[in-house]
Amino acid sequence: MITKGYDISSLTKKELKALIEKNIHATDEKLLEAARYTRELAYGKKVFFRGLIEFSNYCKNDCYYCGIRKSNRNVHRYRLTKEDILNCCMTGHELGFRTFVLQSGEDLYYTDDFMLDLIHEIKNRFPDSAITLSMGEKSDESYKKYFQAGADRYLLRHETATEAHYNKLHPENMRFSNRKKALYSLKEIGFQVGAGFMVNSPYQTTDHLVNDLLFLKELEPHMVGIGPFIPHHDTIFANEKSGTVDMTVLMVALVRLLLPQALIPATTALGTIDPFGRERGLQAGANVVMPNLSPTSVRENYSLYDNKICTGDEAAECKECISGRIRNAGFEPDFSRGDYEK
Ligand code: SAM
Ligand code: FES
Repeated sequence: MITKGYDISSLTKKELKALIEKNIHATDEKLLEAARYTRELAYGKKVFFRGLIEFSNYCKNDCYYCGIRKSNRNVHRYRLTKEDILNCCMTGHELGFRTFVLQSGEDLYYTDDFMLDLIHEIKNRFPDSAITLSMGEKSDESYKKYFQAGADRYLLRHETATEAHYNKLHPENMRFSNRKKALYSLKEIGFQVGAGFMVNSPYQTTDHLVNDLLFLKELEPHMVGIGPFIPHHDTIFANEKSGTVDMTVLMVALVRLLLPQALIPATTALGTIDPFGRERGLQAGANVVMPNLSPTSVRENYSLYDNKICTGDEAAECKECISGRIRNAGFEPDFSRGDYEK
């Protein structure tokens, strides 16, 4: 294969574990090089831009790690209207963005009818742009309706592929089996699907990470979001340690090697734990960035973890800042839709 001695696709559980353990503290430069090379064969030096619109921080779920979980009474809750969301898309479109990622907590205020109307309107006004949804678990019926209305992609991180670990991060009414079923349904329906996980989340072991890699290999998602866990002061994990850049970057590289065509973001969480975290993600095979298009007035309130970066910057500033960083790191900002290439 093309990965210069780093074909990890047929490694056993035990071998993957050994590979992770060998690279825990400092990733072998050859492995990073193989990941970069793999990405380059698939997408060249392009780094795709996605405009993120965090349209509601209400959530009916209570994920233990998440700052906007329903039982956090200290969150100032907000919802964007249809017009607010369309204005974010308009600003983004004028800046050159051709993918809009609509993300929220699981907020039942946004009915299927609301979402269908919104999707139609975005597609009418911006027919050259892709719509990515990231609003949690829904029925297959709802997913189908969103897809038929024109939504192109769906992000739903699996968070951890080990059931016992999933149960330590979520309350009883949330089940890994449901998450897995939703991901397979989304794929079956025709979405470009994004899975993903947090690195160094509480109770996570190397075996769990191996399971994450094997789950991704089996699911073959089009996109994979990998970010470090970062504590939020109003959660039960407030005193847990943040994930490390080294471990996150290692996971990005391994996922790139396992899924050469995947679209992998250099996440905001990675940029939060290290000023050059996103650059390090790109150097390990990531090829997507997701600058924020949400109104600056609500950004602070979409606080999943502490010290999130870029909450005060206007969309145009973010675009310029991230484009400059991408160029400095030796890559090319790309504003096309950036679909998955088979
Ligand atoms: N409600 C949707 C969902 O659950 O997929 C989308 C919003 S949810 C806040 C988006 C992602 O934020 C989650 O998939 C999770 O991985 C990440 N996240 C939440 N809390 C986090 C934390 N404390 N540290 C790092 N990432 C976190
Ligand atoms: Fe719902 Fe985090 S608990 S978005």
